[in-house]
Amino acid sequence: MKALVLSGGKGTRLRPLTHTMAKQLVPVAGRPILGYVMSHIAEARIREVGVIISPETGEDVKAYLKDGSEWGIRTTYILQDSPLGLAHAVLTAREFLQDSDFVMYLGDNLLSYGVKDAVERFLEDRPDALIFLKEVEDPQRFGVAELDEQGRIIRLIEKPPEPPSNLALVGVYIFSPHIHEAISRIRPSQRGELEITDAIQEMINMGYTVKSEILDGWWLDTGKKDDLLEANTIVLDEYIKRSIRGKVDGSSQIVGRVEIEEGAEVLNSIVRGPVKICRDARIENSFIGPYTTVGESVTIRDSAIEHSVILNNSKVEGIERLEDSLIGRSSTVLRNQKMHKALRLMIGDDTVVEV
Ligand code: TTP
Repeated sequence: MKALVLSGGKGTRLRPLTHTMAKQLVPVAGRPILGYVMSHIAEARIREVGVIISPETGEDVKAYLKDGSEWGIRTTYILQDSPLGLAHAVLTAREFLQDSDFVMYLGDNLLSYGVKDAVERFLEDRPDALIFLKEVEDPQRFGVAELDEQGRIIRLIEKPPEPPSNLALVGVYIFSPHIHEAISRIRPSQRGELEITDAIQEMINMGYTVKSEILDGWWLDTGKKDDLLEANTIVLDEYIKRSIRGKVDGSSQIVGRVEIEEGAEVLNSIVRGPVKICRDARIENSFIGPYTTVGESVTIRDSAIEHSVILNNSKVEGIERLEDSLIGRSSTVLRNQKMHKALRLMIGDDTVVEV
């Protein structure tokens, strides 16, 4: 069994963050999403991992994963010149995959349980494909499955305007090499992509066994700001334990599950967990409320922040109340001390500012 991790793509929905960074490297609770993906693959005892990369962000992905030894796996990088669809990514990886069974894992998806048990079930039952479904509120955004009364798949449709069910395809799949035959028979969709949903539908049409399971744990597709904030909330809720390795002065109060990494400093502030404060961050005269991740070398002064993610090297100063926000790397959010009524902004493309 091999694994194929899709870490290319355009990431349009997470702009402007993804103008300058691969969306799979956006941190959730201080750790890049790809880090969680690799841990899940390693847990399933898969060693050979192909990583699809794009010309734009491939070098950053390589710099993070390196040879994979941090996870006990071996990475092979596969360049996909342009993001022509999930099934196109499999086609691009044909030489790496050879005739192995493989787990395909979208590099921007997070799952609560990982894939260990599913891989075991696949190896016992030997279907040609095992896919995972999850009830969602907005199935129009996903690949959607229509099932019959016995729970067998009748049809799969990509981003249907009128979904036949609310069961979305989760971004993890297990395939036998028959998937390649199906991919060779499909054509690009209306949006010009070779869709993995069409390929799986083709497997069903060809008479191959496609099994589905309803996922009972959580699953997050971190494509948009609100998804990322939700991912941050869930991961902080599940994984954060109280651990204070940084410096906290006598006039500060740390309440509940708060993780403060080495080199971080909290001065005259209140931190109410679950919160993660990464290495070398500095919190001064501030309140940091639940479900907040403060990235490495971030400075927060004279501010109150809640349910937000502040990425590395940014600065927040004099902000009375900041919530439900995602601040990119090396950004500054500050109140002009002169208290002008007028705002002075310098804003890049595709930005949202709510004042
Ligand atoms: P998507 O989120 O479906 O596509 P995208 O990255 O182009 O994002 P957006 O819709 O915001 O523009 O991709 C799911 C995952 O698969 C993501 O990690 C990127 C990766 N991917 C590839 O590696 N190659 C591809 O051709 C496509 C479409 C996606």
